[in-house]
Amino acid sequence: MIAETKSTGTFPVKHTELLEWVKQMAALCQPEDIRWCDGSKEEYDELCDKLVQKGTFIRLNPKLRPNSFACFSDPSDVARVEDRTFICSRWKEDAGPTNNWEDPKEMKPKLKKLFEGSMKGRTMYVIPFSMGPVGSPLSHTGVQISDSEYVVVNMHIMTRVGKKVMATLGTDGEYVKCLHSVGAPLQPGQQDTQWPTNPTVKYIVHYPEDRAIASYGSGYGGNALLGKKCFALRIASSMAREEGWLAEHMLILGVQDPEGQKTYVAAAFPSACGKTNFAMLIPPKELPGWKITTVGDDIAWIKPGKDGKLYAINPEAGYFGVAPGTNSKSNPNAMATISRDTIFTNVGVTADGDVWWEGMSKEPPKDLTDWRRQKWDPASGKPCAHPNARFTAPAKLNPVLDPAWEDPNGVPLGAFIFGGRRSTTIPLIYQAHNWNSGVYLAATMGSETTAAAFGEVGKVRRDPFAMLPFCGYHMGEYFNHWLQFGRDIPNPPRIFGVNWFRKDEKGNFLWPGFSENTRILKWVVEKIHGKSNAVESPIGWMPHYNDIDWTGSDFTKQQFDAIMNVDREAWKAELLGHAELFERMYDKLPKEFIFMRELLLSSLWRSPEKWRLEPETMD
Ligand code: GTP
Ligand code: SPV
Ligand code: MN
Repeated sequence: MIAETKSTGTFPVKHTELLEWVKQMAALCQPEDIRWCDGSKEEYDELCDKLVQKGTFIRLNPKLRPNSFACFSDPSDVARVEDRTFICSRWKEDAGPTNNWEDPKEMKPKLKKLFEGSMKGRTMYVIPFSMGPVGSPLSHTGVQISDSEYVVVNMHIMTRVGKKVMATLGTDGEYVKCLHSVGAPLQPGQQDTQWPTNPTVKYIVHYPEDRAIASYGSGYGGNALLGKKCFALRIASSMAREEGWLAEHMLILGVQDPEGQKTYVAAAFPSACGKTNFAMLIPPKELPGWKITTVGDDIAWIKPGKDGKLYAINPEAGYFGVAPGTNSKSNPNAMATISRDTIFTNVGVTADGDVWWEGMSKEPPKDLTDWRRQKWDPASGKPCAHPNARFTAPAKLNPVLDPAWEDPNGVPLGAFIFGGRRSTTIPLIYQAHNWNSGVYLAATMGSETTAAAFGEVGKVRRDPFAMLPFCGYHMGEYFNHWLQFGRDIPNPPRIFGVNWFRKDEKGNFLWPGFSENTRILKWVVEKIHGKSNAVESPIGWMPHYNDIDWTGSDFTKQQFDAIMNVDREAWKAELLGHAELFERMYDKLPKEFIFMRELLLSSLWRSPEKWRLEPETMD
């Protein structure tokens, strides 16, 4: 059977159930036409041209930023909408206390009404995509229906799209149904806006039992590119729990030591807390022979291998990264990655057709257009780029892309690192005593909120495993899944906590971060190979000052002490925060957690008020 297509010719679709679904959705959404996306470069170029014609895209100066585009979203559509995100499992208790829930029996008819005629005057794109290398045993397939060209071209970069994926689906392969509309139907003759969206009604809805997603009213990032947070985290985490694997908000990087030994590490930091930066680290030149390579910068799918090790893939094919703060010092590899073939959303645009954002350079160039499409006045106090401005860039352009990044079997993990944005309390680096205490560490992680997260900026919120907005089922069950996961493997990866964001009383960062984080990573890797030392603190294992390689650094022992100290009063408050989290999910909370909290409390009581690595340095 040949599917109905436009412009790029036809390709065979033999999956009868999929054809039926597309037909039904077309009848519901009433688009002007339907187009099956083949994933070709021609398709990408054609749709980018169309977006330029519509005024959505600005083609950037091909000399400065070849084959790249900038666009500005509607001010109502600049970030994920956590309060409009729902896990509609059949039973409320399966969604748990940290997710919004509505009965699917009520949600489905409500959405049906919204989607009815929602694509009028627009093309309905059918986007078959693979999360993970096409054909990998760790990959999964989705099909997104969308009425947004912006979504199609972003999906081209972020996932593997098109014919090949359709071929692996065959006549009856399984796929996740992803329905998306910007919710802005056009009446005959009605002029389109540059960023079609529904400014008042947005729904990001997941049906875990059906493995289906419906997203209405937003065209932005995690709300609209349904392969990313909706599928690869929310639906996948629920699949992973049933099938015995993990879907995590983690970067994956490779660390090669001077002898050539490679260790892969996965790290979870909440949104806008440095995953892209960490995944692309360039070691300081004083650590010769150390090399860091990127497997992924946002999401990891992790499955146990036959040898008992954990293997991870990056299900994505591109980076949807935070632009502000990115510069040739903080992240040169990201700057190289976005040098061409990139889509920029909500950044500033220069007079000569390049991009700019806060933190790209000290002095802003003259005559900038800000993300609101207006001439930017630096004196206005308003940022030129939106704080959650993003770039969409193909992974292939990353100069330090790991050679195994598309290995269908994944890469073996040696360690997990968890870290939030905490100006106090949490030390720079510590290692959990064992798997269970590591799961506790990750579960109780807190972070000060940023522009990417919903809520008041700068407030500590518990963000277990950096998964609070992304876990597709009951968070307490998720903790149990992690505990059980470690029990089932003979030698699970070691678990570490980090905090790059501790500040002094004046609000200055105590740790230089970025490239310097390599020193901490080096200690982690040597620790798991039994090559570096540590001392036991009330909260886990910690390096002495001399256990870290400070070659070429002027970071003093005193500074290190300041960033590593464990303050009893601050930790007591911290443990109250843990208790608050636990209360919310008491019905499914692992029993172990209650005891681990008690154990922590008593070990804090038995230690000095301000626990320091080397008590003789106490003043
Ligand atoms: P999502 O894409 O939202 O999931 O976020 P991410 O974790 O990939 O965030 P990203 O790497 O883009 O984080 C960007 C923010 O973290 C910027 O504000 C950076 O300046 C800051 N950042 C990254 N690494 C460091 C560091 O080592 N120290 C400090 N102080 N800030 C850092
Ligand atoms: C995040 O917020 O964690 C992101 C960006 O990675 S978005 O895809 O918009 O969710
Ligand atoms: Mn993310």
